[in-house]
Amino acid sequence: QEAPVASQELHDLVVVANRLPVDAKTLPDGATEWVTSPGGLVTAMESVMRNVDSAAWVGWAGSPGEAPEPFRADGMDLYPVSLDATDIEKYYEGFSNGTLWPLYHDVIVDPAYHRTWWDTYVSANRRFAKAAAAVTAPGGTIWVHDYQLQLVPEMIRSERPDVRIGFFNHIPFPPVELFSQLPKRNQVLRGLLGADLVGFQRESDTLNFLASVRHLLGYQVDQRTVTVPGIGAVEPRDVIAGTFPISLDTQAVTALTDDPEIQERARQLRHDLGDPEKVVLGVDRLDYTKGIRHRLKAWGELLNDGSIDPRETVLVQVATPSRERVDAYRQLRDEVELTVGRINGDHAPIGRPAISYLHRSFNRRDMTALYMAADVVLVTALRDGMNLVAKEYVASRPDLRGVLVLSEFAGAADELRAALLVNPHDIDELKSAALRALSMPEEEQEEMMTSLRRQVLDHDVQSWAKHFLDELEAVGEPAPPSAPI
Ligand code: ADP
Ligand code: F6P
Repeated sequence: QEAPVASQELHDLVVVANRLPVDAKTLPDGATEWVTSPGGLVTAMESVMRNVDSAAWVGWAGSPGEAPEPFRADGMDLYPVSLDATDIEKYYEGFSNGTLWPLYHDVIVDPAYHRTWWDTYVSANRRFAKAAAAVTAPGGTIWVHDYQLQLVPEMIRSERPDVRIGFFNHIPFPPVELFSQLPKRNQVLRGLLGADLVGFQRESDTLNFLASVRHLLGYQVDQRTVTVPGIGAVEPRDVIAGTFPISLDTQAVTALTDDPEIQERARQLRHDLGDPEKVVLGVDRLDYTKGIRHRLKAWGELLNDGSIDPRETVLVQVATPSRERVDAYRQLRDEVELTVGRINGDHAPIGRPAISYLHRSFNRRDMTALYMAADVVLVTALRDGMNLVAKEYVASRPDLRGVLVLSEFAGAADELRAALLVNPHDIDELKSAALRALSMPEEEQEEMMTSLRRQVLDHDVQSWAKHFLDELEAVGEPAPPSAPI
């Protein structure tokens, strides 16, 4: 079926992200199927943009080659940007996910530095910037997202000084000692400072960014305000940095948990697992930042030492395929699958797994049923911008049952202080937290969930977006409209 074409209007609010909210998948018969894109950015922003009149989203459609024509989906105009095979290799898999991703996540694996990756990062960023500038109304707002597009704010400003520009980083911003490794660090900072407002998940990310600006560029920083010096006829300008922890569409989650079909699906899932006494759940993109190896190590040891009986307790590990052509991800998949196979070989009762491992995507209804079926959720990230899975679990438990074990290295830990907080590098601590979660009395679960739910339900993604956009609006008047590029 043909997608409706995009409206011909210019838009007051344009979101730019590496990915569109939907990915194009080519079916064996050559037809195109659109599926929800992976990751927390899309989960959060898709629900924000669905509620905006005349919303526009500029991004990649997930396949190499020529971009599809602009089209409408869920009330949004989507403007696909093309990435060819070289862009995917050098901009997406290379500089974004082989350099920036590991550097910004505490060098859990070694970042790779290649000069040709940088050149393609620049040219791809320029393509996103031009596409966004071309569909934005005079005096409009462009909201740029995430580490793949850090040069876009500056590129838009040089073409469209009339628009307000916001940037939000969904992943951590590293301490200056690590950021300094980046060969093109000053260009990246100047790219970000093209925005009027630069937002981060955690307070420490904001402070890291400001410290880098001060130490590496030598710009004046007064609390949250950076003064970018003027050059020639260009006046100095102020850029504000701020902390905006992202969240979920909690109303949408509540609509799902209220649905009797999903409640039945949760019961059915437990039954399909053999009606164990306890179901423990992990949900992650298959990414080395998520601490899946640490989780499996702890789980294997608990089974080995007899602390957990696999006939009573099942671990369900959902691992969404991710960045499968990048070496570190290939290696991770091999290791995880080998370990799951070993643990199942050693411990699974006949006809049932000790670990039910699912390497694929599920729809929101199935994800919610999984959260509702889980007695414990393990979030063991070694570093994570936010981790929406932690918040999704909390939002999915109106019955106030269940225990969240949460890594202190996930951004969510700054807000979800009532969870069982762990250092995932300490395998003994991880094991005792899992056991404590499994034996937690119902009254204690209720107390924990009540406190966690207050935090999540009072700070949903709509209020996050409003807070960011209100602050952007308050930042100052842009220059008068000029001709679009
Ligand atoms: P990241 O952005 O690094 O992927 P988050 O935890 O913030 O991490 O967000 C992950 C999002 O992807 C969540 O909304 C989660 O529900 C979703 N997700 C993870 N695994 C799957 C899966 N197998 N199927 C569908 N959605 C998934
Ligand atoms: O912030 C999380 C995030 O990295 C997004 O930027 C990204 O779109 C998503 O996870 C999934 O990763 P990818 O787009 O590389 O599949």
